[in-house]
Amino acid sequence: MTAITATAVATATATAAAAAVTDTSVSTPIDLTDVELFASNNHHAAFRRLRAESPVYRNPSADGTSFWALTRYDDITAAYIDHDAFSSLHGAILGGSFRTGGGDTASNEMLVASDPPRHRILRRVMHPPFGPGMVERIQHSVRTLVSRAVDDLRADGGCDFALDFAPLLPIGALMAMFSIGVEEARHVVGLTRRMVGYRDAALTDVSGDERLRLAHAQSEIFEYFADLLDERGDATGDDDVVGMLRRAEINGEPLTDAQLLYACMNIAVGGNETSSYTICSGFLALLENPQEWARLRAEPTLLSGALDEIMRWGSTNAYVQRVTTRDVVVRGVPIAAGEIVTLWNVSANRDPDQFPDPDRFDITRSPNRHLSFGAGVHRCIGAPAGNVELTEAFHALLGSGLEFRTAGDPVRLRSNFILGFTSLPIEIGA
Ligand code: HEM
Repeated sequence: MTAITATAVATATATAAAAAVTDTSVSTPIDLTDVELFASNNHHAAFRRLRAESPVYRNPSADGTSFWALTRYDDITAAYIDHDAFSSLHGAILGGSFRTGGGDTASNEMLVASDPPRHRILRRVMHPPFGPGMVERIQHSVRTLVSRAVDDLRADGGCDFALDFAPLLPIGALMAMFSIGVEEARHVVGLTRRMVGYRDAALTDVSGDERLRLAHAQSEIFEYFADLLDERGDATGDDDVVGMLRRAEINGEPLTDAQLLYACMNIAVGGNETSSYTICSGFLALLENPQEWARLRAEPTLLSGALDEIMRWGSTNAYVQRVTTRDVVVRGVPIAAGEIVTLWNVSANRDPDQFPDPDRFDITRSPNRHLSFGAGVHRCIGAPAGNVELTEAFHALLGSGLEFRTAGDPVRLRSNFILGFTSLPIEIGA
């Protein structure tokens, strides 16, 4: 990898655009791999500084490597759209690609880790599993679970929202998508939770090598789906995701075992952690802004717009990773081919140039073109499913007639990739 020093950047920028950035460092170093920054909720302040001081930032990592971080809305949108220069072949998470002996076995086999034209083919395979029929099944499944959970909440007087309520969203989705029972779906959510939370002692044993731990968590999910596919055998007649994937073809051939596994893995990892953590950050934002909760209670038709603000506010998928395929210049800063570039949705979503008064939670914010679902060809294919899960959950909570308040300090997930909560105690209040 080519090292680009601040001096080299300064020289290059002399001939670049007038608004060019002349330094890629900041007064006090910020390490975006430091999970404490996110667990302590101090990341917004860090991104505020980066957007102002060094919007194209070279992040030094403890292991001596480094990567680029884009923090401004316009730069991030442009990188999302320029998929020729910013490749997804190495996966969306830093250090998280599926490497075996140096290669990346998921490259151009898993949807999120593919580039066009291959991406177009893989995305077509995924259309039926995310079509309107499946979204409707997810809606019914989640509706049943959350309405029971609200009854329990009423009876118990409170719960740990992060543990007892939020996981029901992906559990309901998995039950509908894979025709599995509630306990099995809970088990799958546990597996993906450990993978995404591989740096959090609340979710996993954090001793030993981090990369091995992540690889082990990934392999557990593969094993689960390998067994499921095996058990279901030739499921081509089934009307769930397994049946849809078994019927799918690539170049006239059925999907290989590896392609089937990658598709299941992408659906489970893409959906499990995102919607459940988004309901946590959204619910907490409403509890902390009671006037917005009251507006929503009074006018439930505001929910659809409120969900956009909840998505923007939580920015659950904090960043995605890309790797440059050629030399590029971003805001006057040259970035060499082969460099890792991270696009920080969480920062773009608080960029004051795009969102006036960005740290105000406003359920009627308009326009609200948040980047929480990404942008460009990889924009979240599960967005309608995620929206319907969140809609059902908020309908149940708002329609309960109950008022809620926090009953202890929320505990944030120790992750810089997925922003969530491992605990969010709530109780019924006046
Ligand atoms: C509700 C919260 C959700 C958030 C914040 C979210 C976020 C994202 C983001 C940012 C991307 C783009 C990744 C990239 O550009 O590299 C993405 C892609 C994807 N998401 Fe979601 N997602 C959500 C819900 C879901 C659900 C419910 C599912 C599945 C049931 C899902 C499955 C996927 C898949 C398969 C992709 C890959 C799409 C592609 O590469 O073409 N997501 N998601």
